[in-house]
Formats: sequence, structure tokens, C-alpha cells
Amino acid sequence: MNTLLESVNLNKTYRVDARNEQQVLFDVNLRVEAGEFVSVMGPSGSGKSTLLYALCGMDRVDSGSVRFAGGTPESLVTLETLPEKELARLRLERMGFVFQEIHLLRNLTVMDNVILSGYLSGRRPRGEVNARGRALLERTGIAELAGRRITQASGGQLQRVGICRALINEPDILFGDEPTGALNSRASEEIMDLLTEVNCDGTTVLLVTHDVRVAACTHRVLLMKDGRLVSEQRPGPVEDDDEGEGEAEIGRREAVVGRREAEIGRREAVVGRREAALMEWLRDYGV
Ligand SMILES: Nc1ncnc2c1ncn2[C@@H]1O[C@H](COP(=O)(O)OP(=O)(O)OP(=O)(O)O)[C@@H](O)[C@H]1O
Ligand SMILES: [Mg+2]
Repeated sequence: MNTLLESVNLNKTYRVDARNEQQVLFDVNLRVEAGEFVSVMGPSGSGKSTLLYALCGMDRVDSGSVRFAGGTPESLVTLETLPEKELARLRLERMGFVFQEIHLLRNLTVMDNVILSGYLSGRRPRGEVNARGRALLERTGIAELAGRRITQASGGQLQRVGICRALINEPDILFGDEPTGALNSRASEEIMDLLTEVNCDGTTVLLVTHDVRVAACTHRVLLMKDGRLVSEQRPGPVEDDDEGEGEAEIGRREAVVGRREAEIGRREAVVGRREAALMEWLRDYGV
């Protein structure tokens, strides 16, 4: 396996006022392999967002290092040594971001919001960027919204727009800070299905979430407490796991409700079991 992103002894302190400061990251060591789907959980204020922003180079740390391989181990770069301009280009071209608040440009259409960073990067001709933008909208099921203003879309649809925008430059990694945090459970599930597809297509995904159900859909869950990574769990990819339900039973159900529904039901059961296991794990850590 190739390491895509790695942090070594990250420490970060916020100055609260002239006299007070608060350390929010303590020696955080983390490694994300290319192709992984990782989530970070932990109580409010434990430092999850701070860690995410440090890992993507949006926020500087006091000490420690973040290394990013950008797809190939040979191209390993140390974020804190990069000049601001190069860091911005790396973020634009190699990283995608999806947040709870989507920060779309209100005066642009859905399509224009999606393709803007493609134009900004200038890596591909505009015709290609447009075609990719259209393909992404198709794939995320919102093609009919392309010409609409973003004020005319629902929260779940906007989050899809955010994901399309994040993917326009074919990033190596997608970072998400509570990307499903503002959505109802159905919309949240659809977004997780979409992120799972994106990950299956080869994009590494790193999410911060409060939602155990969201975490249960990822390969590895990290637990953050008081600025430290204290534990991790590997629920494993949902698709590969069929323990606990016999083949015969699946076969019977397939015969009745059809293959697709049986598949969904099986997945539902697997995610449910993982969710319960994660809840127990979190309880053990007093979260
Ligand atoms: N710009 C800032 N200046 C000062 N303190 C900050 C700043 N940003 C965050 N903090 C503090 O750092 C700590 C960690 O914040 P962070 O946003 O990383 O937590 P979090 O785990 O993402 O919480 P939540 O789950 O509520 O989003 C908190 O105590 C917060 O108040
Ligand atoms: Mg946060």
C-alpha cells in the first residue's frame, strides 16, 4: 500500500486572547493510504476540524509535519515547506473539499459552480472541463439542475453540487467536514452512497463526522479526544462483508424481492451491525 497523506507529531495552539492560549492538537500522528475511506469521530471541540484543516494545508500548525504524496510516493511533498502559491495550487488540483456549509457562489448556476475550479486550474481545455462537469452532474443525479441558480436547489442537491465541484479536477483525496451534517437521514444516506462510489473509483476520502451511521460506511474510524487520536476501528468495506446472514437466507430473499433489494437489505444489516459496534466502542471511550 502507498501512503497518500501522513502527519507527524502535529501540535496546534490557538491564541484565545492576549493572555490565554489553548492547545487543540497534541502530537497527532496519522497515516492515510491511497484508496482508503477514513472517518474521524469525537466530541465537539475535540479538534477534528482543526486536524482536517491542518492536513489539507489550509491552516498552519505550531510544530510537526504533513506529507502528501499526490498519487505517487516519489512526489511526496511536505506541506509546511511549500510556498503559499504552490500550496494553493496543490489544494486546487490534488485535493477536493466538501463541507457542511457548501459555500457555493450564489450568482452562478449549478454548472458554473461545478466547473469554476476546473477553469481556474487551467490543466485541461475548457471544453473538457465542461464535459466532465456535465458527466459529474449526470452521475450524481442532478443533471436537470445544471442551468439553475443554486438558490433553487434542496440541501441534498446542493451537497451533490459541492461533491461535483470537489471532483472536477480529479483530486487524489476528498476531505469532508460533516458533509452530511445538515441533511436528513435519507439525503445523508444518498450522499454516503455517492462518496462510497467515489472512493470505489479510486479517490481517497477522509471525513469528519458526528454520525455513527456515516462512520459505519467507512473503512477505518479514528477517534479524537481532547486533541489526541486515542483509538481506531476498522469496520471494513461494506460490500465485502456478508457474515451473519446465511447464503440460503439471501437466496430466498433474492427470489422474493429481487437481487437489488436483497443487496440493499444485506448492506442495511451490515451497516446496522457496524453502527452498533461503533456505538459500543465510543461508549467505552466515554463519548
Ligand atoms: N480560530 C480559533 N480560535 C480559537 N480557538 C479555536 C479556533 N477554532 C477552533 N478553536 C477551538 O479549538 C478547539 C477545537 O475546535 P475544532 O473546531 O477543531 O473542534 P471539532 O472537534 O471540529 O468540534 P465540532 O465537532 O463542534 O465541529 C475548540 O475548543 C475550539 O473552541
Ligand atoms: Mg468541527
